Amino acid sequence: MMRAQDLLMALLCLMGCMGYCGTLSTCKPLNLELMKRKRIEAIRGQILSKLQLPKEPEDDDVGEGDEVPAEVLSVYNSTLELSEELMQNTEYVESTEAEEEAYYAKEVHKFNMTKIMNNTLMLFNVTAMRAVLGLERMISQAELRLLIRVPRIAPGKEERLELYQGAGDKARYLDSHFITNELNGKWISFDVTQTLKNWLQSPAPGRNGKLQGRLFVLS
Ligand SMILES: *[C@@H]1O[C@H](CO)[C@@H](O)[C@H](O)[C@H]1NC(C)=O
Ligand SMILES: *[C@@H]1O[C@H](CO)[C@@H](O)[C@H](O)[C@H]1NC(C)=O
Ligand SMILES: *[C@@H]1O[C@H](CO)[C@@H](O)[C@H](O)[C@H]1NC(C)=O
Ligand SMILES: *[C@@H]1O[C@H](CO)[C@@H](O)[C@H](O)[C@H]1NC(C)=O
Repeated sequence: MMRAQDLLMALLCLMGCMGYCGTLSTCKPLNLELMKRKRIEAIRGQILSKLQLPKEPEDDDVGEGDEVPAEVLSVYNSTLELSEELMQNTEYVESTEAEEEAYYAKEVHKFNMTKIMNNTLMLFNVTAMRAVLGLERMISQAELRLLIRVPRIAPGKEERLELYQGAGDKARYLDSHFITNELNGKWISFDVTQTLKNWLQSPAPGRNGKLQGRLFVLS
């Protein structure tokens, strides 16, 4: 037996979209500088995370509190030099694989739902999304993230959250997630790449993107 009930948990949802410059051919000459800067930022971020440093070490920090070991600083210094070399070397970006270019050219965008109706129906402003993301061919991945807040589930039980594209009779099933009390305060995500592409393709102006969550008690 399954019973549908209100989706009380989805109080906030964000849609994260990874978009990038399509085939790259149309925007490559214009965005070369931007891509180079992004590549360097990405490399810097990866290095900092490998070193488990929240930010770049500064000379002032040395000797105070948690001292940065000299060898870490040395590694950091040499990678900084490498970054600077890359920045000066205009040939570098052009000589790398197209795949790698796409990786560094990707951007992540977030959109809040604009409204939630009857605790189940989430509305998204497609016009605003299209203004930021452009054409659907530029989207590589879209994710719906839902924050689980105070699920009222009987101890030891789980419920199933089904996600639908659209509302009413036209609702199309997308995917489902099992919800337990242990997920309180945590995020769950759904892949909504195709849904977002459909929305962006539709020419209707002022249209809302609709996603519906239906919660089922399992017993
Ligand atoms: C790292 O660079 C800073 C200045 O850029 C220098 O003062 C410091 O001695 C360098 N540290 C090492 C370990 O190379
Ligand atoms: C989305 O909503 C949250 C909470 O209402 C807010 O803190 C955040 O700034 C919003 N994000 C965007 C991108 O509008
Ligand atoms: C919301 O609930 C009301 C009353 O239960 C119903 O009339 C209305 O159609 C619902 N709206 C949507 C968008 O489902
Ligand atoms: C949707 O976004 C567009 C463009 O940003 C804006 O003009 C419009 O007012 C928004 N609509 C709603 C319902 O928020």
